[in-house]
Amino acid sequence: MTSPKDLSQNGRYPAGRLAFPHRDLTGIGQLERHEILFLLDEAEQWIDLNRQSHKHNDALAGLTIINAFFENSTRTLLSFEIAGKRLGADVVNMHAAQSSVKKGETLIDTATTLNAMRPDAIVIRHGSSGATQLIASKVDCPVLNAGDGSHEHPTQALLDALALRQALDARGEASEDFTGHTIVICGDILHSRVARSNLLCLQALGATVRLCAPPALMPAGIEAMGAEVFNDFDAALDGADVVMMLRLQTERMSGQFIPSEREYHHLYGLTKKRLQACAPDALVMHPGPMNRGVEIDSEVADLIDQSIITRQVEMGVAIRMACLDVLTRSARGLEGWTA
Ligand code: CP
Repeated sequence: MTSPKDLSQNGRYPAGRLAFPHRDLTGIGQLERHEILFLLDEAEQWIDLNRQSHKHNDALAGLTIINAFFENSTRTLLSFEIAGKRLGADVVNMHAAQSSVKKGETLIDTATTLNAMRPDAIVIRHGSSGATQLIASKVDCPVLNAGDGSHEHPTQALLDALALRQALDARGEASEDFTGHTIVICGDILHSRVARSNLLCLQALGATVRLCAPPALMPAGIEAMGAEVFNDFDAALDGADVVMMLRLQTERMSGQFIPSEREYHHLYGLTKKRLQACAPDALVMHPGPMNRGVEIDSEVADLIDQSIITRQVEMGVAIRMACLDVLTRSARGLEGWTA
C-alpha cells in the first residue's frame, strides 16, 4: 500500500493537501495549478519507458478500461488504448457507429450498460458539451473526458503543456511553468474544446495567452477568461514565443463562418513569412488533425527545429498513462487518492 503523496517538501504543492483528490477528469477547469503540475510530473516517468523497445509495466494489471468514442479520433483513441495496454490493463474500445447507439439507445442507458460490466475506468469522447460529466454521474468508476463537444479536451491540454515543457527544457529554458512566455492560439476558437482547455491550462501555468480568430469564430465575452483577444493574426504573432494553430471544425458549423478556405488561409494561415513576426525560433504547435494549406503551411508544420507537433503526439501517450494510473489508484487499493 502506498500512502497519499504529500509533495509539499519542494514547495511546489500546498502543504498537507493530497496531490490529486478527484475521481474523474472532466476538464482542466476542475484542476488547481498544483494538480496540473502533478499530472505533468507523473507523466514524465512514462516518457523513458515509451522510448524503450520493451514498453510494458504491470501497474494496471487486471483492470478493465473502456474507451467509448461517439466521435471519430485517431490520436486520442489510439493513445488511450496504447496507454492502457502499456500499463497492463485490459482495454476495450467501443465505437458508437458500430454500437447499439445506432439502434436508438440513449447516452444514459449506454453508460448504465457499460457500468454493469464493471470497468475500472471509462474514457469518453462525445459530441455534446457536458456528456462526460453526465456519464460520470451515472457510473461507479473514474471517467476521463477525451473531448466533449466544444467544452473541454483536458488530456490534450495536458499533453500540450508536457510537450512544451519538454521542448523548452531541451533548449535549456527549463522552468517550473510558462511564466514570461506568450502563447498565441489561432483558429476556430468558437468551436474548439482544445482552445478552452489550453487557455485554462496555460494560464494556470503562468503563460500570457493570446486568442486569435475571425470575429465570427471568436466566442463573445472570452476576454472575461483573461485572454488577450485578436482578430488580426499578424498583430497577435508579434513577439510571441509559441504559436498553436487550430483547424476549422466544420463538423460543428451550421452555416457559413468563413468566405472561403483560400481567404481564411490568406488572413489566418501560418506561413513561414508570418512566423517571422514571432520571437526568433518560436515554437509551432497543432493538436491535429491538420489541414495543411488551410490553417498551416507544410513548410511550417514540418520545421525541424521549431515544430513540436509530433512531440505533442508522443507526449499524448505519456499523459494518458499518467491519468489512467492516477485515477485508478483508489481501485487498486492505494489509499488517499479520492475525495
Ligand atoms: N487532437 C485530437 O483530439 O486528435 P484526434 O481527433 O485524432 O483524437
